[in-house]
Amino acid sequence: MPRTEVPPVLVTGATGRVGRVVVDLLMDAGVPVRAVTHRSEAAATLPADVEVVTGDLTVPESLDAGLRGAGAVFLVWTVPPATAPAVVERLAVSTRRVVFLSSPHRTPHPFFRQPNPMAVLHADIERLIAAAGLETTVIRPGMFASNAMFWWATAIRADGVVRWPYGAAETAPVDERDVAAVAALALCQDEHAGGDYVLTGPESLSQAEQVSIIGDVVGRRIAFEELSPDEFRRETEGSWPRPVVDMLLAAWGATMGRPAFVTSTVLDVLGSAPRSFRQFVADHATVFIDPTPSR
Ligand SMILES: NC(=O)c1ccc[n+]([C@@H]2O[C@H](COP(=O)([O-])OP(=O)(O)OC[C@H]3O[C@@H](n4cnc5c(N)ncnc54)[C@H](OP(=O)(O)O)[C@@H]3O)[C@@H](O)[C@H]2O)c1
Repeated sequence: MPRTEVPPVLVTGATGRVGRVVVDLLMDAGVPVRAVTHRSEAAATLPADVEVVTGDLTVPESLDAGLRGAGAVFLVWTVPPATAPAVVERLAVSTRRVVFLSSPHRTPHPFFRQPNPMAVLHADIERLIAAAGLETTVIRPGMFASNAMFWWATAIRADGVVRWPYGAAETAPVDERDVAAVAALALCQDEHAGGDYVLTGPESLSQAEQVSIIGDVVGRRIAFEELSPDEFRRETEGSWPRPVVDMLLAAWGATMGRPAFVTSTVLDVLGSAPRSFRQFVADHATVFIDPTPSR
């Protein structure tokens, strides 16, 4: 009998936090991958044996070559919305299945119900995908665990003081490796078509507790210095986009006094428990440790 060829999966956001892991997981499973980047120099960050295709979500026709014959697409959208209709139109003529990295904007918890331009964009793209009649799985992770590295690692390495607002606000950070594992499974198994998965980490932890866990793991006392929202706006002025700052402040403020929303979806889909925040920090501990300690 002739061997049935497995069609390739086109992975957008392939150099990003979730997409990069999706690439590895699909390759480990023997699924051919086309990894999309819009920067040719980023190819070096991808495995040597992966097929890298240059494509730009803001230039829909640039995706055509990569889409040819693709069995499924992992869609990560981090660019402005203008070209989303044209991109989804192209997906609909080229492929059958889409797994879309979205957010839990439908979840009735105050953290997820604040004004949020990303949520509006995600909802718009979900509508486009549904109208195009594609088989879809929507992946809705809450706060990524790796935000802790992007937000706090520099301060922790520098002077061990995290200056941050809403220390008591609780989130349930989800490890991107778990998000990617759910996405990879959904790309490979038809039974996940129609799936709508809100993914969180296993426990609700205040931001101050998260900082304290990092201190525990790296064996160093880290101080948490509470900032007011306005102080945080001033501290991030010029380095963070203001809409992102306002979005985060609104979400943290709204969740004060409540535990974070926690789901069992990672366990339900993968059959293994989601990684804890402590595990995430242990696996990335070097990021929080000054490589040049004083003698
Ligand atoms: N951060 C969180 O806590 C969180 C929580 C829930 C959901 N999300 C959602 O997860 C998604 C990923 O966000 P992220 O911040 O983690 O980003 P990311 O995936 O780490 O990085 C952005 C990716 O977008 C790609 N990209 C950028 N411009 C592009 C373009 N013009 N054409 C094609 N690809 C382009 C980049 O690839 P190249 O530069 O190599 O082309 C990169 O792979 C977003 O939709 C975000 O809203 C985030």
